[in-house]
Amino acid sequence: MNGDINRDDRVSVSDMVVLKNYLRGRYGLNRTQMIAADTNHDGNVDAMDVPILQDMIIGSRGKLPMGTWIGDRSGAKRYFCFGSGTGYAVLPDGTVHDFSISSDDDMVIMKFKDTGAEMTAFITWTGEDSYTLKWEDGTAETFRAFSEFCFDPKNMISGNWVTDRGRTFTIDGLSGKLTGKDGDISRFEYLPDGDGITFRFGRTDDNTQCQVKKIDSMHLLMTWADGTSERFTRREIEVRNGITYVNGILIANKTYSLPSDYAPNGILPDAQAAFNAMAADAYNTAGIRLSIVSGYRSYSYQNQLYNNYVARDGKAAADTYSARAGHSEHQTGLAMDINDASSRFNGTKEANWIAANCVKYGFIIRYPQGKEDITGYQYESWHVRYLGKELAKEVSDSGLTLEEFLCIDSKYKS
Ligand code: DAL
Ligand code: ZN
Repeated sequence: MNGDINRDDRVSVSDMVVLKNYLRGRYGLNRTQMIAADTNHDGNVDAMDVPILQDMIIGSRGKLPMGTWIGDRSGAKRYFCFGSGTGYAVLPDGTVHDFSISSDDDMVIMKFKDTGAEMTAFITWTGEDSYTLKWEDGTAETFRAFSEFCFDPKNMISGNWVTDRGRTFTIDGLSGKLTGKDGDISRFEYLPDGDGITFRFGRTDDNTQCQVKKIDSMHLLMTWADGTSERFTRREIEVRNGITYVNGILIANKTYSLPSDYAPNGILPDAQAAFNAMAADAYNTAGIRLSIVSGYRSYSYQNQLYNNYVARDGKAAADTYSARAGHSEHQTGLAMDINDASSRFNGTKEANWIAANCVKYGFIIRYPQGKEDITGYQYESWHVRYLGKELAKEVSDSGLTLEEFLCIDSKYKS
């Protein structure tokens, strides 16, 4: 029989082992075996016969696990999706690795597309929805059934999310924890399935389904089965060297401060280049002249400025328009005041041009009108913050302040 190289009356992974060993010069084949091994019938037994044998094995597959399975290697969950002849593994770091798969009754061979590595494992079913894979290196990994579908790894929502219902979803892989508004915690697993997600709470069949719409790189709109919607905002807060990054964005406001020794000593190059391009276009297209009247400010300079304002207007008033030392965005090297840092600038043709165009260059008006309670500052038509083009567009399209966009606040602790 074509493909049955080891003459056991079936085409299986064992035949692949024989063929590969023959090709590596380790086994010899007799005449009948050579005929069976020449799967493409071209008169030679060579590497060209391997993919055809692979297809034949897949075609005669036995008990290959299908769907999504959760493995427990080193205590960290990893997901294997087995489709028909192909599959992918999603590792705890979120990376996805495609493989082709063939299997015999108790043997599974996965060939990884990215590395070319081939992994063989022996499968022992321990129940209808669980099995153990014994890998080549002798380690064993227990798998339990997650779903009969292969989920779409593009729709995984790992990470930390806060919602407009005051809830928090902390998700690792396909499982997570929901903290309700009142602090009660429930655990779940979820399955991304097309545009939808099925959440499974607890061990029961307490399934909740929702439709997911991606709003931008940091927001999702979930529409639950009851028709209500909940807005999810990704919020990963990381503090490195005393500097706070929210979803990777450096933040300085009343809540998050910079260390006194954080000193880029100037506007950062990308922000400067973006300003230069903006100023050139403003002049060339509209005859508008833009110049930076205050860019980078050191901690100590901000301290002086703020104290002068406090001496002049009192602390409460100063706090509405000047940042305390360590809290000014000017210390980041990513913010700048353009032309005239005073409310006289509001409504001028220059201010209007900036408002209409700065987003194209990667800036946002950081303290918009009517959002004083959220940003913590009065409206500043002259103060822009550099975010890069993509993010500036997302924030601008959202119509939100940076605080609202990231679900953070801006309030002094005392
Ligand atoms: N005027 C802004 C809020 C600052 O002092 O940084
Ligand atoms: Zn400013």
